[in-house]
Amino acid sequence: MPAKTIVDASVPNAGRVYDYLLGGHHNFEIDRQAGDRVKALMPTLPKLMRLFRWCLQDIAHELTTVRGYDAIVDFASGLPTADHLHTNAAPDTTLIYSDRDPVCVEYGREILGLTPNIHYFQADCRYPKQFLGRPEIQALLKGKRVAYVYWGISMYLSNDDIRVIANELYEVCDPDATLAFYIQPGDDSSSTAADVVETYRRMGETLYFHDQPEFAELIKPWVADSLGYRTMEAWHGVNSPISTEDAVFFPGGTTGIGVYLVKGK
Ligand SMILES: C[S@@+](CC[C@H](N)C(=O)[O-])C[C@H]1O[C@@H](n2cnc3c(N)ncnc32)[C@H](O)[C@@H]1O
Repeated sequence: MPAKTIVDASVPNAGRVYDYLLGGHHNFEIDRQAGDRVKALMPTLPKLMRLFRWCLQDIAHELTTVRGYDAIVDFASGLPTADHLHTNAAPDTTLIYSDRDPVCVEYGREILGLTPNIHYFQADCRYPKQFLGRPEIQALLKGKRVAYVYWGISMYLSNDDIRVIANELYEVCDPDATLAFYIQPGDDSSSTAADVVETYRRMGETLYFHDQPEFAELIKPWVADSLGYRTMEAWHGVNSPISTEDAVFFPGGTTGIGVYLVKGK
């Protein structure tokens, strides 16, 4: 199979579809068509995605300005458009974005241009130890207090993937590291949810759902810090943007759950 490039406009790309749903301009007609299909199934989705990005900005502020980390490694970043972590991190924070999708990496580098201290690498977030061990990453993080982010990616991770991520990061992270994680509860028992899952399957993506108690087991020995597990509404301090008809996709009407994880004893 030929390597994917940003000029391949013949198949929809999950990163570009995400950009389209966020109202961005880094997408092609084929992505807009796929995005419109998802939007037709779940009209509230663009609002929700914007909420997730606002929460990312909260994370950037919390980790750098409040908790004093001077570097963030973000896994499965998608496109670093104007509402991503770097726009709300403290000045001079070293920010390492990554994604396994070469389209996102190539486009991401183009979007970021020569922004100082901000980098974009290709990496599979299921193997963080391998990524963090690369000489170029070690050089960028040398002497820094580093925090880690997995946001908007749990749907792409199986239970085994989460276990591996938890253990590998636990092994390589400093004792005072913080790991921000978003999890998407849900299931595909409703026809709407099944249609969304099928739309992503056609883009080559299998979607997984995780509930909070299950995730808390999988992510051990990391534990939630004193802020605990919070819905996106609570995280950002807003009312739920989910419409009644879309609530079927979100059990209990929740938009997903975020948590700051720290190393347990
Ligand atoms: C829904 S977007 C999330 C983007 C961003 N983190 C956010 O919250 O806005 C999911 C991204 O995860 C990437 N992705 C999926 N599986 C991955 C993997 N195993 N390793 C790295 N990136 C992955 C996709 O390419 C896509 O860009």
